[in-house]
Amino acid sequence: MSKQKLIAGNWKMNGSLAANEALLAALRAGLAGTQPICAIAVAVPAPYLAQAQALVSGTPIGLAAQDVSQHDGGAYTGEVSAAMLRDFGARYVLVGHSERRQYHGESDATVAAKAQKALAAGITPIVCVGETLAEREAGQTMDVVRRQLAAVIQANGHCISEIVVAYEPVWAIGTGRTATPEQAQEVHAVLRAQLAAATSAAARVPLLYGGSMNAANAAELLAQGDIDGGLVGGASLKAQDFLQIIAAAGS
Ligand code: PGA
Repeated sequence: MSKQKLIAGNWKMNGSLAANEALLAALRAGLAGTQPICAIAVAVPAPYLAQAQALVSGTPIGLAAQDVSQHDGGAYTGEVSAAMLRDFGARYVLVGHSERRQYHGESDATVAAKAQKALAAGITPIVCVGETLAEREAGQTMDVVRRQLAAVIQANGHCISEIVVAYEPVWAIGTGRTATPEQAQEVHAVLRAQLAAATSAAARVPLLYGGSMNAANAAELLAQGDIDGGLVGGASLKAQDFLQIIAAAGS
């Protein structure tokens, strides 16, 4: 039984009211009249959640946020809580994206706490893990991703089957340098085994690949046994490219 794949776009800090409207209109038009062949989501900057919520309503596109606070509320200037994201209909939230780990000093423990807050609010955390180039070259890839996922497993116990994991090698993000399907599958198999040790439902945890996924390389990556979808940055800002990746997930 092959399960439905998930293609999630990560817009990062891109967009404007006008650009978002055009992009979502093009996605709506491209998906109109077709049966959804995979689950679809777009992770938009927080100020645009309300706009995007209205524009994806009645479409197969699920709304995602790019980050969530590890706190419930209160004196945390600039933070956005899981309850606030839920108010705007967010179904998913990225946690632990490498840009958050790198530029905002997010530790494994912080990422695990964020995943916990999302789950408690009924929002699916898309937990990002991945090694840097230096770590890969030092042969530490598996140790790094296992350590990152272990923190989330430990903090979330039996809820762990409700998460999505995205393997994003840092050296492949925004660089045009994609992991080969074999490199990605090798890591995904390790993550699957780690999940299997924690939950009997590991097979249904979607494991996404991210890092320069595009219309040309998506099909080959998505054909791997443990690759259940993609987390797409740059290519998700171009409607036709994103629609082609969605089509590749259904074939
Ligand atoms: P990219 O970004 O597709 O532009 O490499 C992926 C991501 O950071 O989620």
